[in-house]
Amino acid sequence: KKKIAIMTSGGDSPGMNGVVRACVRMAIHLGCEAYCVYEGYEGLVRGGDFIRKMEWHDVRGWLSEGGTLIGTARCMAFYERPGRLIAAKNMIVHGIDAIIICGGDGSLTGADRFRAEWPSLLEELVSTKQLTEEQIKPYQSLNIVGLVGSIDNDLSGTDATIGCYSALARICEMVDYIEATASSHSRAFVIEVMGRHCGWLALMAGVATGADFIFIPEKPREDNWREEMRSVIEKHRKLGKRKTIVIVAEGAQDRHGAKITCEMLKDLLADKNGLALDTRITTLGHVQRGGTAVAYDRMLGTLQGVEAVKAVLEASPETETCFIAITENKIVRKPLMEAVRDTKEVAQAIDMHDFDKAMALRDHEFAD
Ligand code: F6P
Repeated sequence: KKKIAIMTSGGDSPGMNGVVRACVRMAIHLGCEAYCVYEGYEGLVRGGDFIRKMEWHDVRGWLSEGGTLIGTARCMAFYERPGRLIAAKNMIVHGIDAIIICGGDGSLTGADRFRAEWPSLLEELVSTKQLTEEQIKPYQSLNIVGLVGSIDNDLSGTDATIGCYSALARICEMVDYIEATASSHSRAFVIEVMGRHCGWLALMAGVATGADFIFIPEKPREDNWREEMRSVIEKHRKLGKRKTIVIVAEGAQDRHGAKITCEMLKDLLADKNGLALDTRITTLGHVQRGGTAVAYDRMLGTLQGVEAVKAVLEASPETETCFIAITENKIVRKPLMEAVRDTKEVAQAIDMHDFDKAMALRDHEFAD
């Protein structure tokens, strides 16, 4: 019986439990043994009880749970070869044939590196007498498949990452709450949303809530953005709007790379010689990541989990490491490192202030 392990890594995202449930059950359905690695790469390095066999009933009720029930961590040890050596040993000791990793681009890059290094890790385990030739024989190659779990929707090559629609729904709900109080007092609110270097959450939240103005990293405003913001909001107020909502992605910056801060925007909106709006700041923070997954993320996690098990069983040493994407409503396998490279290119384009390139690579809809 093949032993397939599943692990969640990096920041948690709603839908990860659906992924684990689907992988465990699909693995069992296909006659394999299912394992969970608890606490992400940390668990792989620690081994022992961190790697546990799972039965069908162990994941009962997991679809509607938020976060990740098998834990996640940002593991420093795995970034270094000695940590990966211990992780390789633990996998062999537990008899794990293949591993499915659900996480962001950093976690998935780590997975690809682990796979590439695998033959030399085995060599070292034998030469340092930690394992025998006999022990490593059945594990000559390592099959890994990635699933993208992140609220940021920042990975190139897939239309949606698992969790992004739940975070978006949560943001919209929170903005609705804020709007009620904003309207009552005729106030302005500057709302900061997550997304790291990606503006998808801010952009879509802006569309979905009808915000007055938004700021995202990939498309900084022209240098006259202060005047532009003022005139847009003035126009909305003249039309009778009693509330003003400005949504700022946490990675937002101006054309010259200076961070756009909530405080800076608050001061502008409140300026006595300008709009003179009574203004408050709300940083939504981790409420965006917590809570249960919306239907879309439960579905996405389940369908992609099922596909990941099939993919990891069909993988061979000759095939590139793949991840499971959703493209135009189809669940598809794609080369992982190409997507990671494209994602890094966006970050580089932003760093180089080449915003047209960043926006083109991101391919957000409603870009303009
Ligand atoms: O990547 C997910 C994310 O929530 C980002 O949007 C945010 O920048 C970051 O993680 C926050 O990380 P932490 O939970 O470590 O504060």
